[in-house]
Amino acid sequence: MTDRRQKQGKSVFIRTYGCQMNVYDSERMAGLLKPLGYGVVDAPDDADLVILNTCHIREKAAEKVYSELGRLKKIKTARVSAGDEMVIAVAGCVAQAEGPEIIARAPMVDLVVGPQAYHQLPELLARAARECGDVLATDFAVEEKFDRLAEREADGPAAYLTIQEGCDKFCTFCVVPYTRGAEVSRGVDAITAEARSLVAQGVKEITLLGQNVNAWRFAAPAGDAGAQGLAWGLGELCRHLAMIDGLERIRFMTSHPRDIDDGLIAALGEEEKLMPYLHLPVQAGSDKILKAMNRGHTAASYITQIAKIRAARPDIALSGDFIVGFPGETNEDFEATLALVEEVQYASAYSFKYSRRPGTPGAAMPGQVAEDEKNQRLARLQARLEAQRAEFNRAQIGKILPVLFEKSGRHPGQLIGRSPYLQSVHVDAPQSMLGSIAPVRIEDVTPNALAGVLVTKAEAAA
Ligand code: 5AD
Ligand code: SF4
Repeated sequence: MTDRRQKQGKSVFIRTYGCQMNVYDSERMAGLLKPLGYGVVDAPDDADLVILNTCHIREKAAEKVYSELGRLKKIKTARVSAGDEMVIAVAGCVAQAEGPEIIARAPMVDLVVGPQAYHQLPELLARAARECGDVLATDFAVEEKFDRLAEREADGPAAYLTIQEGCDKFCTFCVVPYTRGAEVSRGVDAITAEARSLVAQGVKEITLLGQNVNAWRFAAPAGDAGAQGLAWGLGELCRHLAMIDGLERIRFMTSHPRDIDDGLIAALGEEEKLMPYLHLPVQAGSDKILKAMNRGHTAASYITQIAKIRAARPDIALSGDFIVGFPGETNEDFEATLALVEEVQYASAYSFKYSRRPGTPGAAMPGQVAEDEKNQRLARLQARLEAQRAEFNRAQIGKILPVLFEKSGRHPGQLIGRSPYLQSVHVDAPQSMLGSIAPVRIEDVTPNALAGVLVTKAEAAA
């Protein structure tokens, strides 16, 4: 046995790529490893266990994993020749999609674990040590995962909480239905228990997460008199969670236009704890492209939905995802995307060049768009989206917004918080205000944040 094995605690380094779901899953894996004696470290060099929690959504994201494995190989080789050990695990969507390929391309990987199998990590690690070979765990067992990953420590006043996983939508560009599996909703009791535990630890804001968060459904079990056979959607869940004392803010992401229902729109209009921010990806503005993408909505139906949401919550900040250069996209189709953007007016947005993902229908479609063309379209789209974001931010100047202070700023005496619209806000404020919500008058905007000053509650009410 090596010296390292005899030492007291063990260490794990987790590198997270991609979406908020991965950030959440990484926290969960850390929580699961803690009882096994693993402390989290912030560099891989001396770690006993390194986990890469990967993203497969675009080609570049997947490539990053292999370059990181190249760097880790050098560290592991040096460690092993010094008589030491290092276990390398690849988790996340690349693990799910390319498991056997990872083992073939990167033999120093000991364990490949898909997103549905994290709860098995302790057993899998033991197996990897016992078998001294590669362990591949990429089956689907989502509900069990929810149950076994419930315990978690809060890290700051804003937390994520997964309520739904998977996707049945099969947009023709997207790998998620293949890497995350079918839509599964977590039960109300488990969600409520986790929310309560987070709030007891000082959490003020919870962001409910799901690949299709508004596909969340709860059918009360037969014979549950309390629920009286009611079927709940996300709106009802938000109202239910809003009853938790001490929980001040609720957010959710990512929503799909197909799953926005009247219950959710009503909750957005009536429930003050629900923040006025909605991430509602549209992807494109041409009905021909939306159809080829299998989105299940048109540009007009999306715009009608936005109008309904704005009628219920006039100050809502809208955010979207866009893809340019999907196969078959002509200049005219792209112009339709720009026209939709002008009509909606986004407060923030994410936009991407179409990336051909193996195994998705889009990859085999005719009319793939040249890289140059994609670059030009993306630059034009991003210029418009950026102008809208800047305009939305500038419009806050002079307003008094409640800000949740989440962390210290770069300058002494500065705190960084979030506005209801998810903008970063820089304020001079005492450390003692970390974790609290206070009114701030917005005085300035920088490219990525707002700046403001604290005001008294009386000033805010005036
Ligand atoms: N190419 C480019 N962007 C993609 N997205 C998903 N798949 C692809 C792809 N193959 C984008 C979509 C989605 C966001 C999370 O990533 O806009 O909403
Ligand atoms: Fe991917 Fe479409 Fe599902 Fe979103 S809705 S995860 S883009 S398949």
